[in-house]
Amino acid sequence: MVSYKELGLVNTKEMFAKAVKGGYAIPAFNFNTMEQMQAIVQAAVETKSPVIMQVSKGARKYANPTILRYMAQGAVEYAKELGCANPQIVLHLDHGDSFETCKSCIDSGFSSVMIDGSSLPYEENIALTKKVVEYAHAHDVTVEAELGVLAGVEDEVCAAESHYTKPEEVIDFATRTGCDSLAISIGTSHGAYKFTPEQCTRDPQTGKLVPPPLAFDVLAAIEEKLPGFPIVLHGSSSVPQDEVDTINKYGGKLPDAVGIPEEQLRKAAASAVCKINIDSDSRLAMTAAIRKHFAENPGHFDPRQYLTPARENMKKMYIHKIMNVLGSNDKL
Ligand code: G3H
Ligand code: 13P
Ligand code: ZN
Repeated sequence: MVSYKELGLVNTKEMFAKAVKGGYAIPAFNFNTMEQMQAIVQAAVETKSPVIMQVSKGARKYANPTILRYMAQGAVEYAKELGCANPQIVLHLDHGDSFETCKSCIDSGFSSVMIDGSSLPYEENIALTKKVVEYAHAHDVTVEAELGVLAGVEDEVCAAESHYTKPEEVIDFATRTGCDSLAISIGTSHGAYKFTPEQCTRDPQTGKLVPPPLAFDVLAAIEEKLPGFPIVLHGSSSVPQDEVDTINKYGGKLPDAVGIPEEQLRKAAASAVCKINIDSDSRLAMTAAIRKHFAENPGHFDPRQYLTPARENMKKMYIHKIMNVLGSNDKL
């Protein structure tokens, strides 16, 4: 049994309370590789931002759970080495799918877990979430739960269509489970194709797809039911058009990729939403930089040559999100 406290990590309690009060959101960046970890830490330190580093089931399979946990421990030490006296870094399990996975993460040093029972019938979601909360709280680990279903297909997260969270259920759910934060569905979805072209309109000037707005009325109704309660938005990549264009220019094929416009995320961050999940934008930033590098340097084969610009591009993206979208800078 390793406590996250021994590793210098923190849970989400205090940072969420401050974020809700301050009208900003904490970035929750997924990581699978050392370069993502380095870029996240550099960005958080340079902007003086708290940060959530999150690990999906796919990441655990790809990188190995033990390695990811040591990387998070390394992240804390790296942040200190970069001059941050008191780093606020959370190691979070993203989309935990069972009590056993959550327990194994809690036992190995995670400071926060998500139990995603959103695809279960309501009462089963409550029972599973409550079981995880009881174990997690005994170890001072915070728990994110989910009500409502996000559309979208990812490696490990899959649903054909979305069902918005029902505001009339949130008080009962939060009270009976004791969860610390709640992921909701208001129209975001996972991946780089958040909306089909049919769901969008086209900007007559640029020809680009314009996605439908998020259901801010549902968010407002949830906020009214649970004032001050931390709300989480998954599927919040904005799929930057310049990165998509770079990928497509240098041999990639991402037709009609579309994300959540940043002005909508800004609006969400200023409300009860205090954690915003971003994974796909990091994947796009990395891929765009690598594709460009290979096209311009066909003779390069040392991974350090192409992973350096990839890391720089991800760091630029993380800093942009923190400073210009979520507003979590200068909070340490
Ligand atoms: O919510 C899903 C995250 O983007 C993680 O995706 O399961 O492919 O690692 P993944
Ligand atoms: P994106 O695919 O929009 O980056 O969402 C990531 C996410 O919600 C991770 O849980
Ligand atoms: Zn998610």
